Amino acid sequence: MTETPQTERSLVLVKPDGYRRGLTGEVLRRIEAKGYTLAALAVVSPTREQLAAHYAEHEGKPFYEPLLEFMSSGPVTAAVVEGNGCIAGFRALAGATDPTAAAPGTIRGDLGRDWGVQVQQNIVHGSDSARSAARETAIWFPELG
Ligand code: TYD
Ligand code: MG
Repeated sequence: MTETPQTERSLVLVKPDGYRRGLTGEVLRRIEAKGYTLAALAVVSPTREQLAAHYAEHEGKPFYEPLLEFMSSGPVTAAVVEGNGCIAGFRALAGATDPTAAAPGTIRGDLGRDWGVQVQQNIVHGSDSARSAARETAIWFPELG
């Protein structure tokens, strides 16, 4: 028997590099083309507090401070994406964390730049679990909590 797909919600960010490069529409297009829907959408200039909460799991790692600095460098687009299996599904659409290694056909593989930019400039964030999605949604859309 095949498993019934679960309707899930994922918290997606178009990071400052994607926003600056005008890739918000392209990312949302891929999300909708996959059949996912947008349950919430906002352009946000993140505070340090929001970013520290969002990336709490990475505190103390060598890339943490550069990551927060980069994420503070401009607006982001935050979205709550809804669909069957969309947590793993969006991460598959996004591709590997490092755009240099990300497969063609993925957001990072197709659109990630490969001429010396740092790994953190990888266009999108997507929640890695249902628990993360709930935690992250409360950070970006407190009114939904
Ligand atoms: P991580 O949660 O491991 O990746 P993902 O975004 O694919 O879930 O890391 C969070 C972000 O931190 C990642 O998108 C880019 C940045 N990062 C670095 O700059 N250097 C690194 O070595 C890693 C692992 C991540
Ligand atoms: Mg992650």
